[in-house]
Amino acid sequence: MDLRLNINGQERAFQVAPSDRLLDVLRRNGFFGVKHGCETGECGACAVLLDGMPVASCVMLAAQAKGRSITTIETLGDRRALHPIQEAFVENGAIQCGFCTPAMVLAARALLDANPNPSEADVRDALSGVLCRCTGYKKPVEAVLRAAMVLRGETPPPLGGGRPPEPEPVPWIEIPPAAGPALGGPEVGGTLTITRPAIRLVVAPEKPEEGLLNVVGQPEKKVDAAKLVQGKPAFADDVEMRGMLVGKLLLSPVAHAWIKRIDVSKARALPGVHAVLTYQDVPRVVFTTAGQSHPEPGPHDQFSLDKKVRFVGDRVAAVAAKTEAIALQALEMIEVEYDELLAIFDPRKAMEPKAPVIHDEPESWNIVDKERNLAGVIDFEVGNVKEGFKQADHVFEAEYTVQQVQHAAIEPHVCVTWWDEDDRLVIRTSTQVPFHVRRILAPVLGLPPKRIRVIKPRIGGGFGGKQEVLIEDICAHLTIATGHPVRMEYTRAEEFIASRSRHPMIVKMRTGVKSDGTLVANEMTVLSNTGAYGTHAMTVAGNTGHKALALYKAPNIKFHADIVYTNLPVPGAMRGYGVPQGFFPVESHMEDIARKLGLDPLEFRLKNAVKTGDEHPLSRVWSEGREGHAEIIRTCGLAECVERGAAAFGWRLSDRLPSGLEGGGADWRTIPGKPYLRRGQGVALVMQGTAIPYLDMGAASIKLNDDGSFNVLVGATDLGTGSDTVLAQMAAEVLGCPLEDIIIYSSDTDFTPFDKGAYASSTTYISGTAVVKAAQQVAEQIKEVAGAMLGTSASDLYLRDRRAWAPNGRSVSLEEVALESLHHRDQRQIMAVASYVSPESPPPFAAQFAEVTVDTETGQVTVDRLLMAVDSGRIVNPLTAFGQVEGGMTQALGYAVCEEMIYGPRGELLTTKFDDYKIFRAHEMPELGTIFVETVEPSHPFGVKAVAEIPMDGVAPAVANAVLDAVGVRIRELPLTPEKVWWALRTKL
Ligand code: FES
Repeated sequence: MDLRLNINGQERAFQVAPSDRLLDVLRRNGFFGVKHGCETGECGACAVLLDGMPVASCVMLAAQAKGRSITTIETLGDRRALHPIQEAFVENGAIQCGFCTPAMVLAARALLDANPNPSEADVRDALSGVLCRCTGYKKPVEAVLRAAMVLRGETPPPLGGGRPPEPEPVPWIEIPPAAGPALGGPEVGGTLTITRPAIRLVVAPEKPEEGLLNVVGQPEKKVDAAKLVQGKPAFADDVEMRGMLVGKLLLSPVAHAWIKRIDVSKARALPGVHAVLTYQDVPRVVFTTAGQSHPEPGPHDQFSLDKKVRFVGDRVAAVAAKTEAIALQALEMIEVEYDELLAIFDPRKAMEPKAPVIHDEPESWNIVDKERNLAGVIDFEVGNVKEGFKQADHVFEAEYTVQQVQHAAIEPHVCVTWWDEDDRLVIRTSTQVPFHVRRILAPVLGLPPKRIRVIKPRIGGGFGGKQEVLIEDICAHLTIATGHPVRMEYTRAEEFIASRSRHPMIVKMRTGVKSDGTLVANEMTVLSNTGAYGTHAMTVAGNTGHKALALYKAPNIKFHADIVYTNLPVPGAMRGYGVPQGFFPVESHMEDIARKLGLDPLEFRLKNAVKTGDEHPLSRVWSEGREGHAEIIRTCGLAECVERGAAAFGWRLSDRLPSGLEGGGADWRTIPGKPYLRRGQGVALVMQGTAIPYLDMGAASIKLNDDGSFNVLVGATDLGTGSDTVLAQMAAEVLGCPLEDIIIYSSDTDFTPFDKGAYASSTTYISGTAVVKAAQQVAEQIKEVAGAMLGTSASDLYLRDRRAWAPNGRSVSLEEVALESLHHRDQRQIMAVASYVSPESPPPFAAQFAEVTVDTETGQVTVDRLLMAVDSGRIVNPLTAFGQVEGGMTQALGYAVCEEMIYGPRGELLTTKFDDYKIFRAHEMPELGTIFVETVEPSHPFGVKAVAEIPMDGVAPAVANAVLDAVGVRIRELPLTPEKVWWALRTKL
């Protein structure tokens, strides 16, 4: 049907189907700022303004918009002048992955048009319709309030972040070319004609002090912020291609079965269908979807399509069709007869003798015991725990349960594949691991790696969920089968069911302590449920013990993990990578021990915690990289985190000593007029790792352009964390130029150097060191040329303010150096490539504080405040680092109190929508606080450690400890739902 719509003030004519949603029509016609995050209007990423009011375009028919005025992000501002709201988002660090940003900006615009002077609560309310999984909403809210001031004509306060005042411009002195060294030029009649412009010299600034930094440590704007805030086509799905087909998957309705019969003839005959694939149509190649370095340490137990299904949501068939409607119709026409097998959902029963065997196929390998559904086992011990317990005055035991949760990135998994003009397969995908995708997929697709190119554009949040080769194989199979470009994207329900999640675990703690509070033995036993496939199964569980148990240096430590298969959707890598599962038990347990022994919980923890100079207690016995290597902790700011965090938080230490140890009755816990409410405070200390020693490798190449700017190519993948920005800052620092002179690109397997990808908190540390090494080589080459131009030794020069400076104050600009090098002297390209792998993994540390109010009548836990004091080494960019911590704490808050994947009796996931699953919205947030305790880690050129994952670790135990503090009940099972707290309160009574 014909439809005329008014979009951004222009009347436009479209041909649409009656069932076309407004979202589809807008995106099909190039309005890529309108994002798809769900199909139910819950995430709000697809918001547009309709007659000035935000609406979700995914739940509105295009025809319903007839006669209305539609506003999309594309009309707000452009590269010449951003709208003040966009400008505030950029300046305030309110953008991480940027997938939700266009919708947030539009929601803010609607608010400020109606209410130019909103309160913070008004802003939170206005943003509440847009889910953000990255930021924790703090910076977006601040940005809107700032924009409101600007739009009212007021001057907003200067932005914080420690930026020094702008330097005065340096005075220029022109000197004639003759004063410079002879540079050569075209030979005319036997004489040299110098055609270069004059070299401009400036008065030399002071030679920078060693360690004084200009770009690193500054709150620079994200290098991709401008395009993201304008909704430019930056993400995997933001492409148009002639003849592109839509790929869809048929997912299993049963948890465990053989496919007895599958008939796709009707589906294949449907007009518009180009391919229908089953296990009979694709090569049977076993692989793992875990995007890890070669060789992947876990089970190889998956096939693109198999004759057996192992969970509700497993793949049965794939279709490529001209439209999504035809593809969905074709899926319905596939006839499947299942021979159902007994399914198992309880990990405790998975290893029992009569349990059904989930992986009985002969091709799978690296599975410890198929008969017992044992994907993996991990054992390590330091000292002798048995002897340690004999020395203990007290032994404490408890069991904890942590649930399965989802990344819930607002951008679903999405992939586009096509054959290029050289018959090479191009995979444009929302991945954290483009190089692993290419290597892992090559045998699966039957193509040599050189015929595959993987492009990673901007990613709308990853959090580990895109550290998998998840849909790229099927999309590529469909392109191979049809010859057409194919686009595949999960729906939100598919994302919940068929992507990845955090491993649920049952964790037993047994701890031996002397009466004075000295730990003598610490033991953790884990039962990890890896669902139907073993992706990341081994390394996640290993991390649970390796990181969480290592915080306390008991002389005897033992860890055992059984990782079992069940017929449930598949866990995998998720931000924190096993460590949040470990710290909930460890830090709940430590709190209980301290209280029972009458010790101050913070003093007790610090007494036993590792310190600067200690050997990492478990570094010799387990590592994802190289085992048997002792790592010394060179920087540990944990004590300062505790001290500064407690002071800033208002930690009520006095209430606990000596009489308050059992939960006390001090006044601050009660709320006048509301006797049913009780307040409490809790704390948890945590540590993570920074990259995987001897395994994680990053590389960078840098070249000087003829205007003095630099191209920095990295294989590292910025998944919204701001890593491109911090890597560019490091390059700029070494090369003596502002950030704007660095053009950074990540990543494309055809022309960026290898990088293991974005995981394990490694990018700033590993890829950053590679960038620094490459930049140092480029700097040396610049100095060589500049030294010759200035007639001085290269070793005496330093780079600053886009120039190379000699000690006598003479200088040449980087542009002059580039022109000299490219067009005159040696005629060579100044460039370098470098790579880096680390022998160590310096841990970041943190103290996480939480304050809660518990409703004793309903069991409802309201988290009022969270504060994290974190030692993450030197902060390269405060804007992005604050956002990482705030966003991480928000995800961790969901883990603590509400997020959970819940199943029906047949193993079918019930929480397949955002509102069923429940992630926090802007108006529901507690107050968030972050303190950086900046140690300078000597193993990195700029002293950095990691900050991305550690915010995931401490919130759940701190909240649980706060609930204990408030109402005296210990909840050992996450999340802390009202039902659990209510029951615990009743049981206690
Ligand atoms: Fe909001 Fe990523 S910045 S979802």
